[in-house]
Amino acid sequence: MILLDGKKVSNDIKNEIAAEVAEMKVRGEKVPHLAAIIVGNDGASLTYVASKVKACERVGFESTMVRLPHTTSELELLQKIQELNANDDIDGFIIQLPLPSQINTQKVLMSVDPSKDVDGFHPENFGKMALDMSTFIPATPFGILELLERYNVQTKGKHTVVIGRSHIVGRPMSILMGRKGWPGNSTVTLTHSATKNITQITSQADIIISALGVPNFLKAEMVKEGAVIIDVGITRVPDETKPNGYRISGDVDFENVSKKASYITPVPGGVGPMTIAMLLKNTLLARDQKRMM
Ligand code: GUN
Repeated sequence: MILLDGKKVSNDIKNEIAAEVAEMKVRGEKVPHLAAIIVGNDGASLTYVASKVKACERVGFESTMVRLPHTTSELELLQKIQELNANDDIDGFIIQLPLPSQINTQKVLMSVDPSKDVDGFHPENFGKMALDMSTFIPATPFGILELLERYNVQTKGKHTVVIGRSHIVGRPMSILMGRKGWPGNSTVTLTHSATKNITQITSQADIIISALGVPNFLKAEMVKEGAVIIDVGITRVPDETKPNGYRISGDVDFENVSKKASYITPVPGGVGPMTIAMLLKNTLLARDQKRMM
């Protein structure tokens, strides 16, 4: 079994990006600038955004965090987005999800300038991705592709089973793994809450990408010997033995599944750090594209 070490790979990527930023500085160029909007006080969302800001500092990017109260109206958020769209200093920005219920997420995501949409959530960018056009690929799926590529995991002709059809992970992942090219060229099955007899499907999979958010969902008996296992789950589970009162659990019963897997991502330290590294990559791309215009 080989551990797909997202912590190490994401560090390599950050070092690569930091070297590029250092060269920009030598040339006297403006460095990439990422902004993040966060609405409300959700603990997990605040942690994710703080990690994104920290990662910017680490590679030499500029970053701006915009914190809005949980009572923010849709109109107020749309106005803030228009400000960031119009601000030439900002190369890319994200709106941390989920948003409070008074705000229509779809409407908000559609108001982001597609050239600054480093999350790749705008329909224009999502459509381009589905059509194999150059665009921003959502950071988590992009991170999974990068991990497969850097570990030289073969995907051509394999049966990839994706668990979960979220717009952020499962849906784009299912499209990307079926694309012509590498990583890709898989035969993809997208499973979800209405799927019947999921064990019958997962036990035939060469590659399983689980993005469900249910701790320990994927058990050893659901997995074929030698399968590649990608665990996207990061659920906070109450744990009194931990200083902060919780631990992070993936979707996969790691202890038992890892005995059958050929490759497997740990949680934490697998897909999570890759997501942040790829967001930085997308911000670099946004900055480069802006300079070419
Ligand atoms: N919430 C959970 N994952 C993500 C992500 O990749 N981007 C944003 N903006 N919000 C998220």
